[in-house]
Amino acid sequence: MMKNQRILITGALGQLGLALIRELSKQENTYVLATDINIPKNELSVDFEQVNALDKNRLESLITKHEFNCIYHFAAILSANGEQNPFVSWDVNVNSFQVVVSLAIQHNIQRLFWPSSIAVYGRDKNPINAPQQVDMNPHTIYGVSKLASEKLIRYYHHKYNIDIRSLRLPGVLSTDLVGGGTTDYATEMVQAAKNKMPYTCFLAPQTELPMIYIDDVIMAIQQLMETDFSVRQQAHSYNIMGFCLTPRKLEVQLKKLGFPVVVNYNPDYRQQIAESWPRTTDDQLAKKDWGWSPKFDLKKSVRRMLS
Ligand code: SER
Repeated sequence: MMKNQRILITGALGQLGLALIRELSKQENTYVLATDINIPKNELSVDFEQVNALDKNRLESLITKHEFNCIYHFAAILSANGEQNPFVSWDVNVNSFQVVVSLAIQHNIQRLFWPSSIAVYGRDKNPINAPQQVDMNPHTIYGVSKLASEKLIRYYHHKYNIDIRSLRLPGVLSTDLVGGGTTDYATEMVQAAKNKMPYTCFLAPQTELPMIYIDDVIMAIQQLMETDFSVRQQAHSYNIMGFCLTPRKLEVQLKKLGFPVVVNYNPDYRQQIAESWPRTTDDQLAKKDWGWSPKFDLKKSVRRMLS
């Protein structure tokens, strides 16, 4: 990590933001300002301001005041919610990215992190081991906006030499329930099992998707942000994944761990979204370039979430 970090987080109350805040709070010589369009439900361990990530003036005054040298840009509308209003989704996902990157260039911010997603792949690319680089035709506005921003990273990198680091994330398992994603079923099912409630799953039992445990995501973000990169490496959105999951596999795992959850299957429009995504992704490049190596398999992830 950079010394004397001054960090701005947008969309800080989402699944990634909340976990990153917990991690960054442990670090010395680090100032963190969390921002989000919503207000926190519980008290945070860092400073907080309610800010819309599209509000350039507001963000600029905060950057001037706090002299940030690093930004984590998490503000986004996820895949399932995005389909309710594609125009708003593009606006939030792409234009907030544009706002943050333009401010970073103007104010000489050293490094940015921005998460991409497996949603960049399309229905024609629903393979096992989806390659890092392949032609992509995303099926959702979320995927389209993520792919456009991946292209923008490359473009800005060449044009302004700005250092934006990125991971192409699969579904993330954590205990922070957020909502609006297609992979949310996993977190919801574990929560239901924990609360001894029945669960109605919106995906079919055999739907395979790549997943990862949140601690592995935070570890990957930190590794990626610390690595000394060559110019070639900086502009990648690296595939990473932990394990391949289906709703049925998760149900069976919960039962094995002594949580006899009753799951009903009632697939809705999110089934089509899930089927347009890869079942597993090839993360060799991340392994080769910066030593990516996941620590959590399904059993370990679920155990941690139940404890
Ligand atoms: N977890 C996200 C979603 O389901 C995928 O990046 O929308």
